[in-house]
Parts: sequence; C-alpha cells; structure tokens
Amino acid sequence: MNETAGAPIASGAASEGGTGPGGVIEIRDLHKSFGSNEVLRGIDFHVEAGEVVCVIGPSGSGKSTLLRCVNLLEQPSAGTVRVAGAEITDPDVDIDAVRRRIGMVFQSFNLFPHLTALGNVTIAQRKVLRRGKAEADRVAREVLGRVGLADKVGSYPAQLSGGQQQRVAIARALAMGPEVMLFDEPTSALDPELVGDVLGVMRELAEEGMTMLVVTHEMGFAREAADRVVFMDGGVVVEEGPPSQVIADPRHERTRAFLSRVLNPAAGTES
Ligand SMILES: Nc1ncnc2c1ncn2[C@@H]1O[C@H](COP(=O)(O)OP(=O)(O)OP(=O)(O)O)[C@@H](O)[C@H]1O
Ligand SMILES: [Mg+2]
Repeated sequence: MNETAGAPIASGAASEGGTGPGGVIEIRDLHKSFGSNEVLRGIDFHVEAGEVVCVIGPSGSGKSTLLRCVNLLEQPSAGTVRVAGAEITDPDVDIDAVRRRIGMVFQSFNLFPHLTALGNVTIAQRKVLRRGKAEADRVAREVLGRVGLADKVGSYPAQLSGGQQQRVAIARALAMGPEVMLFDEPTSALDPELVGDVLGVMRELAEEGMTMLVVTHEMGFAREAADRVVFMDGGVVVEEGPPSQVIADPRHERTRAFLSRVLNPAAGTES
C-alpha cells in the first residue's frame, strides 16, 4: 500500500547520495504543539548534502523540538519532514530505518556506564545493524580514532572527561554510518576548557563533508563552520542566511537582541 514512502529509506542500496531533490533534510510548514502550547509554528527550511546548518535562538524557541521532529523522537502535529528523500511524517514510514540514517548527539552523552568506550560504540552496531563482533570492533576503533580517542577504547565513561565522553557519543553515532548528523547543544554541558576538543571534532566532520544540523550557542563555531545559520524565535524561523549575514549583520531586531545577549553574556542574564 505504501511502497513509495518506505522504499527509499528502507533500502540500503538506495542510500549513498540518493537524497533526491530538495536536500538531505527538507522541512515544510512544520508545526508541533504540546497540548495548547504551539512550540513550532510553521517551520520551513532544508539542509543540502554536505551542508552545515547551525540553528540558534533563545531558550524555549523550539530548537530541540525541531531536531526531535527530524528523527521522530517527537511526532509533528502538522507539516512534512523529508530525510534522504523519504517522507518521515508519512504514518507508514519505517521509523527505525529512518533513524539508522540519522546520527544524533545530545547535550547529555547518555553513554552506558557499564560499557567501555569500545562497548558503547559497538552495541548499536551489533544490535541494530547486526554487525559481527570483529567488524563492529574494527569500525569502533576507526571512529574512536577519528575523534581522537584511540587510546581510550578500554576506558569506562566514569574514567573519561565530559569532552571525551561526548566524543565517544559522536563516535557511537558515526559508527552507524549516518547520512546526516544532528547535534543538540553538544558542548553546553562541558567545562569551558573541554569545549574546544568537541568543536574540533565537529569541524573535522564538517570538512569531511558530513551533512550536519547543529543547535548551538557557540557563535564562533557557527561563524566558522556553518554554511548557513538559522535564527529561531517563538517557534518560527526569523531569519536565515550565511553566518556573515545572520551573525555579523542581522536584519531583524530580534536576531540582534539575541546575539547581543549571547555575545556579551556579562551584560545580561540569558543562558
Ligand atoms: N515533551 C514536552 N512536553 C511538553 N512541552 C514541551 C516538551 N518538549 C518541549 N516542550 C516545550 O516546548 C518549548 C520549546 O522547547 P525546546 O526544548 O524545543 O526549546 P529550545 O529552543 O531547545 O530551548 P533550550 O535553548 O533551552 O534548549 C518549551 O516551552 C518547552 O517547555
Ligand atoms: Mg534545547
């Protein structure tokens, strides 16, 4: 009954680069309400293959809800979201197949405390992708090396710094071979001196051509690494464009007010 919606995302053969027109992520008129609270009020934007898009905006503006709608951790109330050519808002979509193609990194790392770095990076490969142990270990060592943790494969989360734990979480997502990576304030739980290593890994991923949608308060990262910046406020996209425009020369007063709070935190109380 629904071969078109399920097919592209369910079929591994149709993957590499098979993103179709409109980009890897395409969001149209997305709405999300929690009870009477309309948190997303008609969001439109897209992320092209290889693009890095940073989403910025005040607390409560709906940034996390937006990311969660993109991998169906939240069910949108209205509108469409397409990921890699498949409409994930179709009720018949294979959600697990969608999620296998989307890597997600949260503020809290959510590592299994009883597993080593290697164990944390192999478990989903084994259970979800059904890779054998040797193959999963090989991939895990490779991605842990990419995030600078080749010497920490045997360490447990409690033996790692926050920045190292977050890099394990990034490696865990990369091990699944995602077509797109979503990051939700990946550095905001970290001590300031640990932020740089995580951002460095994200910069490298961006340079390697990974498609990335990143919610962040790190304006330096957005300025350098983003192809586009999306400023959200009150559940809508207020403005979007290259960082040289949105961050350096914003058009809208709301964007200017937000940026002045973020760039001069001492002058205000905004987180
Ligand atoms: N599961 C939920 N149930 C009810 N309300 C929710 C839920 N998730 C989010 N909200 C509400 O949606 C609004 C937007 O939340 P969201 O987490 O998307 O904001 P945000 O932009 O990510 O903020 P922050 O910068 O603080 O992370 C808030 O008013 C929040 O209380
Ligand atoms: Mg959030």
